[in-house]
Amino acid sequence: MKVAVITGTNSNLGLNLAYRLLERLPAHEDLTLVVTSRTLSRVRECIEKINRFHSQLERSGVLSFEYLLVDFTDMVSILDAIKTLKDKYTAINYVFINAAQGVYDGIDWIGAIKEICTDPIEGVTNPHYKIQRVGVKSRDGMGLVFEANVFGPYYFIQKLLPILEKGKCRVIWISSLMGEAKYLNPDDLQLLESDASYEGSKRLVDLLHFATYKDLNKRGIKQYLTHPGIFASASFFKYLNIFTYLGMMFVFYIARWMGSPWHNIDGYKAACAPIDIAVKDDSLLPSQDIKYGSATTRKGVEYIKEEKIKVDNLEKIKKYFETLRDEWDEKLKDQVKNTRIPM
Ligand SMILES: NC(=O)c1ccc[n+]([C@@H]2O[C@H](COP(=O)([O-])OP(=O)(O)OC[C@H]3O[C@@H](n4cnc5c(N)ncnc54)[C@H](OP(=O)(O)O)[C@@H]3O)[C@@H](O)[C@H]2O)c1
Repeated sequence: MKVAVITGTNSNLGLNLAYRLLERLPAHEDLTLVVTSRTLSRVRECIEKINRFHSQLERSGVLSFEYLLVDFTDMVSILDAIKTLKDKYTAINYVFINAAQGVYDGIDWIGAIKEICTDPIEGVTNPHYKIQRVGVKSRDGMGLVFEANVFGPYYFIQKLLPILEKGKCRVIWISSLMGEAKYLNPDDLQLLESDASYEGSKRLVDLLHFATYKDLNKRGIKQYLTHPGIFASASFFKYLNIFTYLGMMFVFYIARWMGSPWHNIDGYKAACAPIDIAVKDDSLLPSQDIKYGSATTRKGVEYIKEEKIKVDNLEKIKKYFETLRDEWDEKLKDQVKNTRIPM
């Protein structure tokens, strides 16, 4: 039996990671899928969708579910999720760090029109017109996007290491095309001064992978860096109406036809690289110093596009995360006391 955790399972990409994992695992293999969300209703919804998909596959393996109501901007919630997993499983085989958020405040429509008219492909590949709030902190007092997208998941992995080791786990980070070096100031790792904290957090994911994967290798845990290209995401729908949504989809297809390899558009295609890397046979293990992206040809045929990225400040980042992890270990140590001791 295999155990897989997909954070943010109900997102477009999260669901498609689950679908493709089910397609790629041997048909006789039992799987427990740990789905996560911040709300129970979304957990229920996504379990129903995954069950429906599974029932159409020719699989003899049993699919069962576990759920975690976890908020990655809340360290107590993360600790609770870690405890649940440690209590229930002796080994975990796959972890997909997919959940992510930004602190968006809308769209600069004039900027959007200018960017798309000046360079349509660039305008829908590396947009700068999504307005993000600056200096937003979580209730834990950390940069909110930093905690949600990078530190929270890092802490989650670190505390699960013994059971990841037992499962010879593949840890797959979902990064982004947009994690460019210019978005991360090494003196503002919590991204509190940044007006592009989402992009900065993805750059930090890239660097954190490079800073940590060798240590994980020593424990038999293989960590990989992937990204899904560009696809329709539910998180931005609230800023769009039917016309702007259709306009966005139209421009996405134009970008693909004009040669952009990254406009996967469909969440299923976007899940191609992360799943391919996760299920690769041990004898074919790909290199860990590459970022693997889901890509498509002009005709929409999927493939994996590899990218070599430039990295810097790895020692500094590793030290920063380890120190913060130890600080949180200390802060959280009284949270796991058994208060139900009979008097
Ligand atoms: N869309 C794109 O074109 C694109 C491009 C590059 C990279 N990506 C990456 O692909 C991944 C999935 O993107 P998507 O567009 O499919 O997702 P999405 O629609 O934005 O959904 C975000 C997911 O993350 C979860 N989430 C958000 N904040 C969370 C928090 N604080 N704690 C716990 N869970 C949280 C949400 O769960 P609940 O709301 O249920 O709690 C939801 O499942 C993300 O890592 C994203 O950065 C997307």
